[in-house]
Amino acid sequence: MIIIKSIGYEDNVRSTPQEETFISFLLLRTGTKSSSCTTYNASLYQRCAFFLVFWEGKIGFVIILERNEVMEKLKTEKSKALFEETKMYLVDGVASSFHKAADEEYPICLEKGKGSKVYDVDGNEYIDYIGAFGPMILGFCPDAVNQAVIKQLDKGSHLSAVTVDLCNLSKKLTEIIPCAEKVSYQNSGTEANMHAFRLARAYTGKKKIIKFEGQYHGWSDEEKVSIDANFVSELGVREHPNRLFHSKGQRHETADDIIILPWNDLELLECVMQKYSSEIAAVITEPIMCDSGPILPKPGYLAGMRALSIRYNIVLIFDEVITGFRVALGGAQQYYNVTPDLAVFAKAIAAGYPFAAIAGKKEIMESGVQASGTFNANPIAVAASLATIETLEKGEIYKQFELLGNLLTKGIIELGQIYNITLFCHSVRSICMIVFGMSEPAEDFRDYIEKADSNGYKLFVKKAQEYGIRFTSKRGRIYLSSQHTEEDIMKTLEVIKLIFSEIKGDM
Ligand SMILES: Cc1ncc(COP(=O)(O)O)c(C=O)c1O
Repeated sequence: MIIIKSIGYEDNVRSTPQEETFISFLLLRTGTKSSSCTTYNASLYQRCAFFLVFWEGKIGFVIILERNEVMEKLKTEKSKALFEETKMYLVDGVASSFHKAADEEYPICLEKGKGSKVYDVDGNEYIDYIGAFGPMILGFCPDAVNQAVIKQLDKGSHLSAVTVDLCNLSKKLTEIIPCAEKVSYQNSGTEANMHAFRLARAYTGKKKIIKFEGQYHGWSDEEKVSIDANFVSELGVREHPNRLFHSKGQRHETADDIIILPWNDLELLECVMQKYSSEIAAVITEPIMCDSGPILPKPGYLAGMRALSIRYNIVLIFDEVITGFRVALGGAQQYYNVTPDLAVFAKAIAAGYPFAAIAGKKEIMESGVQASGTFNANPIAVAASLATIETLEKGEIYKQFELLGNLLTKGIIELGQIYNITLFCHSVRSICMIVFGMSEPAEDFRDYIEKADSNGYKLFVKKAQEYGIRFTSKRGRIYLSSQHTEEDIMKTLEVIKLIFSEIKGDM
């Protein structure tokens, strides 16, 4: 068996009709006959045409690699113009700092979203993995939620009163969330976490809150502390980290009661809890460090934290603003089987409507803290939340998340190996994570800052967007929705293959 010809095309160059003719010609000239022509998937993404040929009594084959469509970069002039105009009236041109990456010249301006896709003002279509920064667990314009909202619109957009839906939702949350003996509502994760702090302080009569480096719980003065850093040196000594502030106008003294610690370090946590147990009201943590990472809890870490907080009479708060409903209906506390005292949910809880819930032990929830707020439990958001939960309860959505998450992350890992790009990629149901520059998960935020190639990630995101795939601009969080399909994932992998082939020298 000999190879008489092997033709490898450049990535993403379709073999032209002329080239096809040339191969037929070649086969004819050499007196060969093509006995068969098969196409098959050599790997997930590499299509090959495989010709068996006979030549002077010998058998050979011709391989034609890659028959992808030529991928063109998208044109986004209208986005650019719209952003320039908006900037004239709106501070920074965006309504939230999330809406434009710091080093982005202009953000893509969107017109609509449907299913797993979003469409920009230039008419480009993108497979979306940003999910509006988390809420769109059911994709864009999910029918069930739309219908529930339309029905509520006829009854009034806001009533500020107890309603049947409010009672039903509160009951439902206490049934599906392990820690939820009682619930309370706010409109955003920021407010809900502030409420949780107040509950913990009211209940324990203590003031200090332990918060971990790199974790974001909201933008209030007390919350927006040590959420980011460019260098490990900024974070200070590991045993006694600096408090970092991130906004002009932030009153530093409001964070006097915030103790910052590195995550995933039980020994250090115990040391601090033991020393200041009479002053510490709560420890707040994301169960998976999604917002800054991706960083997974070490085996036993969450359970250890649970045990320590009981031992030192400290309220354990899980910030499930990202993990809630995404890793399991009952949140990460159900997924990891560790029940906190309080938990905060927002983002995916109402699949795109502003809504947040605080859930927890009855005695803490009833410690005399008022849940104020004109728009608390707005009936449209309540209707959306009920419809979201009913949809998530049906069918096999979490199984589907697992399948697609695995398909995507395994595909990315395989491509990383092919193109010799160091990366860590992992999925926990609808939350996937990618980080360049490391092949193992980061242990904590310091480890992440030190090793992760954040410039590599930025380049990856920029190129993906140019080819019609949207990822979050920072820190490798990839959100799946129930509307993503296997086809979306395969197309995404094709684009990633193209990107890796373009950037392999730069990573
Ligand atoms: C883990 C976490 N907690 C809290 C918040 C704040 O939620 P919101 O933006 O709804 O105020 C966020 C927002 O990204 C978050 O990721």
